[in-house]
Amino acid sequence: MTDSVPPALIAAVDESRQWSRLMGMAMLGAIPGEGVNRAALTPLDRQARRLLVAWAEELGLAVSVDEIGNLFLRHEGTEPGAAPVLAGSHMDSQPSGGRFDGIWGVLAALEAVQAIREAGLSTRRPIEVVAWTNEEGGRFAPGCMGSMAWAGYRPAGTWDDVTDAAGITFRAALDAHLEAEADILRRPLGPAGTPPFAYVEAHIEQGPRLEADLLDIGIVTAIQGSRWFVVDITGESSHAGTTPLFLRRDAVQDMVRAINALNALTHDPLDVLRFTVGRVEAHPNTSNSVAGRVRFSIDLRHPDAAVLREKGDAIESTIKDALCFCTAVVTETFHAMPTAFQPVVPDAVERAAAAVGARALRMPSGAFHDAQFLVPVCPSGMIFVPSRGGVSHHPSEYSSPEQLATGAKVLAATLFDLANREA
Ligand code: GLV
Ligand code: MN
Ligand code: MN
Repeated sequence: MTDSVPPALIAAVDESRQWSRLMGMAMLGAIPGEGVNRAALTPLDRQARRLLVAWAEELGLAVSVDEIGNLFLRHEGTEPGAAPVLAGSHMDSQPSGGRFDGIWGVLAALEAVQAIREAGLSTRRPIEVVAWTNEEGGRFAPGCMGSMAWAGYRPAGTWDDVTDAAGITFRAALDAHLEAEADILRRPLGPAGTPPFAYVEAHIEQGPRLEADLLDIGIVTAIQGSRWFVVDITGESSHAGTTPLFLRRDAVQDMVRAINALNALTHDPLDVLRFTVGRVEAHPNTSNSVAGRVRFSIDLRHPDAAVLREKGDAIESTIKDALCFCTAVVTETFHAMPTAFQPVVPDAVERAAAAVGARALRMPSGAFHDAQFLVPVCPSGMIFVPSRGGVSHHPSEYSSPEQLATGAKVLAATLFDLANREA
């Protein structure tokens, strides 16, 4: 219980060590504006993982990797065979991402485990730090592949044929990646008969709430649902200067009609339903040709499963009804149901925050996270820290060293509590 968090544990969480590790990671894929572009399963992703492995080995943690590339760093418990507590997040970034989304959750878990060990403490249960593969979905869509496969939400081969912008398949990228990590011990995919005792993910908030309310910690209670679609509109490419309007089958113009119709479908005066077209590819993509093909993405989110289902299910017909000259194929690539965390982890986080003296608030998450796929497997939850201006998925994303240290202290106290429980 966290009323008995050893002061030595909190004192052992090292703000400057955590920050300097974060800044070291931020150099791997650094882009202008202090951002990061470190796509999943790239050489940069591997460099970041090697750096993490080096820190883990220095600390005496056992390192292993599974068939979808999820990476585990294990601190041994004192009770043989006890179900482990898992803590982590992801190391890949958005193409124009920040220095904190994902990677901080992995480094905070490492910091927590290091603090436990350096404070001379032990835990009954093992603690496993995990870095899930491809959470962002920026290179290979959708996101959360590693956690979905691990939790049995989808078979690991589901995304073999998904390609990146260069036409490389997820399978080929994963094979190359596993080959490069062939020296790391291989472990079976998934809980392998022994579900973890709990899963805790630390993450930046990516929204404005904690900062606006002058709070230190978000105790995440739920995650809203998300659906992703890919829309292919096919018309015919032709000369921009010579093709009269009545002969054109312009895929861009029909895409505009489709998006206008989708804006009407998803209009929500309460601003709860979120609809985004974030990626657009036109072919042949030249100024003086009518576009013959367009592919665009749809990201739809809502906390209520019924609304998400109803609006998402209406997308295909809305698009088809809006087109004048082209045809469309709509493919759903991701459907994460809204998720509520059971009380075990949020309650532990609340007590840990109180023990650390952090001002905390229970709140839902608007972003999706690997944690939501762990819910059917074991009690799960998340710890948020404030994001400056609520900005995320952008190079200027920022949380201060102090805010991140507070988050790591709350995580350390939470993990120490959970990893010492009998049941
Ligand atoms: C996660 O990166 C999300 O898009 O919510
Ligand atoms: Mn993230
Ligand atoms: Mn993200």
